[in-house]
Amino acid sequence: MFPVPLLPFLLSLLLLLLAPGSAAAGPGITARTLAPCYSADLSPASGRLVSAVGCTVLLTVPRLRVGRAVSWEYRAGVEQGVILRYAFDRPPSTARPYENRTRFNETNFSLQMVLRRGDGRLYRLSSEEEATDWFQLYVVEPLSEPEIVGNSSVKAGDDTKLVCNVLKGKADLYWWKKNGKLLLGSDRIQFEDNSTLCIVRVSMRDSGYYACVVRNAVSQNETSFLLHVHHSANVVLPVVLACVVVGCLAGIFVWCRKTEQPFRLCR
Ligand SMILES: *[C@@H]1O[C@H](CO)[C@@H](O)[C@H](O)[C@H]1NC(C)=O
Ligand SMILES: *[C@@H]1O[C@H](CO)[C@@H](O)[C@H](O)[C@H]1NC(C)=O
Ligand SMILES: *[C@@H]1O[C@H](CO)[C@@H](O)[C@H](O)[C@H]1NC(C)=O
Ligand SMILES: *[C@@H]1O[C@H](CO)[C@@H](O)[C@H](O)[C@H]1NC(C)=O
Ligand SMILES: *[C@@H]1O[C@H](CO)[C@@H](O)[C@H](O)[C@H]1NC(C)=O
Ligand SMILES: *[C@@H]1O[C@H](CO)[C@@H](O)[C@H](O)[C@H]1NC(C)=O
Repeated sequence: MFPVPLLPFLLSLLLLLLAPGSAAAGPGITARTLAPCYSADLSPASGRLVSAVGCTVLLTVPRLRVGRAVSWEYRAGVEQGVILRYAFDRPPSTARPYENRTRFNETNFSLQMVLRRGDGRLYRLSSEEEATDWFQLYVVEPLSEPEIVGNSSVKAGDDTKLVCNVLKGKADLYWWKKNGKLLLGSDRIQFEDNSTLCIVRVSMRDSGYYACVVRNAVSQNETSFLLHVHHSANVVLPVVLACVVVGCLAGIFVWCRKTEQPFRLCR
């Protein structure tokens, strides 16, 4: 067997091999979204934080061993860069994309940043002596009002389709309501990826307000659409009566069959 003093050494070597990257864990950053921000959660978090475009986040650091300068850095995949560098004897120098939207506190080294799309990256503060762990920031765009595209006046018996489009941001969840109540799927009510609602063979009872609700980590929004189902007989009846008068009943039957041909959109 190994001599006793070698064992702890081998064990720690094994641990290092099993957990690459977690070696030399530094002090951790704490971050929170500052008010006013109507989308994101304002409680502080360590390790990772989800926030919204346009909101301000504050990244704070524990006391760090510093040499002659400190820098805030970011990393996104293989891309890595410096946000700002502070050398104590002069004001911090800030990289151009971060100018006018970051605020650095020279006493406690915290960084405030107004978020843009693309700021979802890793962040850390480093000096020659020490660096914090990387902190993961997720930046999500609040959803604007979605748009429903469809035919608002449909003939009973036809199939119809409503498509919910998100114009700004990316939705993680979609669902539909009819007259304010959650709409459940059935043989006739079908969802495609939840963003498309298909109603097969609409009837008069399908008339009403359809709302599409969209949600992501920082927001929820919705829009509604009035669907009007009209009776197919409304159009056909006067024609039928007119035809009866001129005595071409047989002819109209064939014609009616033709116009009532449903077009299947949903399959
Ligand atoms: C550091 O400074 C910022 C901005 O001035 C402040 O909001 C924060 O509470 C301070 N404290 C720590 C621990 O960073
Ligand atoms: C930041 O503001 C200054 C002064 O208003 C301006 O000269 C500079 O171009 C701005 N920088 C960026 C990146 O917008
Ligand atoms: C920087 O942080 C210190 C300590 O937390 C605080 O006393 C000071 O007011 C802050 N400075 C600015 C400009 O916010
Ligand atoms: C929905 O989006 C509109 C802009 O399209 C916005 O004005 C409104 O505040 C949003 N609603 C919610 C609840 O976020
Ligand atoms: C809407 O549906 C009706 C019948 O259900 C059809 O006659 C009409 O052409 C449709 N309109 C559009 C714009 O698709
Ligand atoms: C689709 O909608 C149902 C509720 O109608 C919901 O439980 C499910 O999570 C949704 N899926 C997606 C991907 O939006």
